[in-house]
Amino acid sequence: MSEGRSQGFTAGSVPEAYDRFMAPQLFEPWARELVGRAKLRRGSSVLDVASGPGAVARLAAAAVGPDGRVVASDISPAMLAVAAAQSIDPAWAPIDFLECSATAINAAEGSFDAVLCQQGLQFFPDRGGSLQEMCRVARNDGVVVVSTWASERPLGLFGPMTEVLQEAGMEEPYPRAFDPQSYSLGADELRRLLSEARLQELIVETVELDAVWRNPRRCGRHAHGNALWAGYPGAVRRDAGTSACPVRRSTRTFA
Ligand SMILES: C[S@@+](CC[C@H](N)C(=O)[O-])C[C@H]1O[C@@H](n2cnc3c(N)ncnc32)[C@H](O)[C@@H]1O
Repeated sequence: MSEGRSQGFTAGSVPEAYDRFMAPQLFEPWARELVGRAKLRRGSSVLDVASGPGAVARLAAAAVGPDGRVVASDISPAMLAVAAAQSIDPAWAPIDFLECSATAINAAEGSFDAVLCQQGLQFFPDRGGSLQEMCRVARNDGVVVVSTWASERPLGLFGPMTEVLQEAGMEEPYPRAFDPQSYSLGADELRRLLSEARLQELIVETVELDAVWRNPRRCGRHAHGNALWAGYPGAVRRDAGTSACPVRRSTRTFA
């Protein structure tokens, strides 16, 4: 199966810009929410699927400590390179990096106490297959915690951002690239996918966090870290600004 949309995270300057402009503002606060829900124990083994620049992996490494083990996997070698360049505290678990698709995780059955995946599932070409893979590599008594944007809620910055890109004359780099619904998931769809993955116990919750940008310019720079950018380098001014700040984001996690 084609990895279609996944390739947007590999191309051009997206990984570095994602880490610089999007991770601290959006993805690190959400990573704290997700890792907290996994209730990681010291010495545990953790897989972070679609790790990107590694915000979840680093928080997990801190939580499980030096006797634990963390693997950060992603389809994009460029994302993994950005993650590997970040410093690791000696009091954390070491982090290994694994280049593979979420639909074919290169790990043995039952190898991890916890499998985490933040804002990756919606991009996978085979969502059901990737959830089954996450369950396969998790221990029977382990936990799988995943987050996606919740499609029932306003998608904050990304809606206005794609409107600005369209107004600036950008053509859709791939089908539905400008449709925020294409990178969020609704509750019914999640339940269907999860029931097929046969998790023993399922919790679905919707969480809201506020993301506040100090000014429209900083807010507008988030476009540079978006996968859309890979399809249209140089088309939008650096400050092509939405002024959507503060912005409330909603996400759904399930375990
Ligand atoms: C929105 S980013 C999230 C990154 C990270 N989890 C975070 O929260 O910062 C989506 C990530 O999914 C990865 N990805 C997309 N398709 C993938 C696939 N089929 N298999 C594995 N990783 C994939 C991308 O390379 C990218 O790093």
